[in-house]
Order: sequence, then C-alpha cells, then structure tokens
Amino acid sequence: MNSEHHQQNRRSWNYITAVHNAHKLDQAAHLAGGGSTLFPEELELLGDVAGKRIVHLQCNSGQDTLSLAVLGATLTGVDISDEAIAFARQLAADSGIAADFVRDDVFDWLPQAAARGEQFDIVFSSYGALCWLSDLVLWAKGVKSVLAPGGALVLVDFHPLFNYLDDDWSLARKASGRAPVFYPEGVGDYVGMSGELLAVSGYIEVDAPPNPHGVWEYGWNLADIVTSVLEAGLQLTALREYPYTNGCLLLPGMQLKPDKRLYPPADLPQDLPLLFGLRATLAG
Ligand SMILES: C[S@@+](CC[C@H](N)C(=O)[O-])C[C@H]1O[C@@H](n2cnc3c(N)ncnc32)[C@H](O)[C@@H]1O
Repeated sequence: MNSEHHQQNRRSWNYITAVHNAHKLDQAAHLAGGGSTLFPEELELLGDVAGKRIVHLQCNSGQDTLSLAVLGATLTGVDISDEAIAFARQLAADSGIAADFVRDDVFDWLPQAAARGEQFDIVFSSYGALCWLSDLVLWAKGVKSVLAPGGALVLVDFHPLFNYLDDDWSLARKASGRAPVFYPEGVGDYVGMSGELLAVSGYIEVDAPPNPHGVWEYGWNLADIVTSVLEAGLQLTALREYPYTNGCLLLPGMQLKPDKRLYPPADLPQDLPLLFGLRATLAG
C-alpha cells in the first residue's frame, strides 16, 4: 500500500470536508429529529442492524455512522481525515447520538484492531470509498480480520464504469487500480454540485476557493473488488448493479427522476450500471 498517497489524500479531504459541511444546515438537529442520510440500497444489504457491532470504514463526518446508530447498532467510524473525524465527534455530541470515531488510515487501523481482538458483525463502507485505497487485497484481508464469525462486509459504491467516462459521458481512460492518477485539482465540491440531494438537512451556497491539495485516485474495476473479497476468504452472498446513483451528481447532465435517483443524460441508455452493492460473509 502507498502511505504517501493516503497522506496526500488526507490533506485534500481535510480541506474539502470543511467546505462540504459548510454547505449543510444544522445536521445535528436533523439527525436528532430522526433524519437519516442512508439510502434504501445500503439498508437492504445491511438488513436489521439492531444490536449489531458495526465498523464504518471511511466514515467521513459520520452522518451515515450516526444514522446507523439510531437504528440500534453500536458504531465505530474510522476515517483518515482529521477534519472529518473532528466534525463527526462534534456531530455525535451535538445530536446526542453515541458512536466512537477514530482518525486513522484504514490500512493501519484494521491490523491494529485485529491485534486488539476487536470484532464486528458488519464492516460497512460506501459511496466513494474504494477509489482512495491503494491495495484492495490488503484491505480485504484487513476487513476479514475484524469480522466476527458469521459477520458480513457490506459495500455500496459508485460503479467502476465511471473509471471510463469523461465529463461529457464520452469514453475516456481515467485512473485504474494498477495505475493511479494524481488529480491536482483535488477532491471537488460535489456537495455544492449536488445541493439538497446531499445536503439533506438543508443547503446553503458557499464561496470556497479551489482545493489546494491534489489527490491520488485508484480506479478499481469490479473484478478487482470481487476478487479481493473472495481471496480474503469471504463468501459473496449478494452482488447488485443499479442503473442510477444516489445523492451525488457525479457527472454533468445526470437526470434526477421522480424516484429521487440520478440517471444518465436522457440521450444515453438508461440501464447503464452506475452504482453497485456487495455483501460478503465470513463463515460462522
Ligand atoms: C467520499 S468519502 C466517503 C463518504 C461516506 N460514504 C460517508 O458516510 O459520508 C471518502 C472518505 O474516505 C476517506 N479516506 C480516504 N482514504 C482513506 C484511508 N486510507 N483510510 C481511511 N479513510 C480514508 C476520506 O477521508 C473520506 O472521508
């Protein structure tokens, strides 16, 4: 794995996380009042989480983590971004929803948690997670090492098709798993592009300078992802592709349909896979 890339990405996420949260109105009141930032796709794959021990890897500012805690699970959120974890801890305090938040690189946290004997019923990660990880085989082994017998990895992420699409939806070659790409513009203000689709507690415009920290991105394909999970020794019990994304306007021209999901522009096939979900279990 490439720690230097991860640290570079930490700086980029620190900057943009503050911008993203500045767009979002009173998130604590939203969560405390029963609001959730989870989508039906992850809820279906997660199943009933009440009483489960869940670690949320790459939890960013903890909104999904706290939404899961409200459903009766015990939550630990892990993220490399200092800004994200500081915000998540404050959000937990302000909303009165309990969860532990740890600032760490998942590649450091996973083996250390396993060495401490920590075990979880569910390892969860979602929406823009895998493209920052420099070694999926190592990551999957780490995931397995903290799963309790019978436990499950639940992943929902943007479909690797996006690795091949340019901003105008024409075919392009972007980052691949084996050939990561450095984007000097850094992580973008996708909350600003998506408005209330992502800022579910309410949205305000923010005039933020561009991200000064570039970012390394890894474009893993579906075979990389599934193979890493299988080679770690987990059993694949669900693999889904969805012809839409949730929340994030990833490319210009996406259509918001009445089901509140985002589809390709109208002149393109409407059944392109834009999101995938996966559940893989450790034998009990
Ligand atoms: C798109 S966000 C994920 C958002 C998440 N779905 C949520 O609940 O809000 C990606 C996150 O991955 C984190 N990240 C990137 N590389 C990481 C690493 N090596 N270890 C831990 N977190 C990492 C970033 O700091 C960022 O918060």
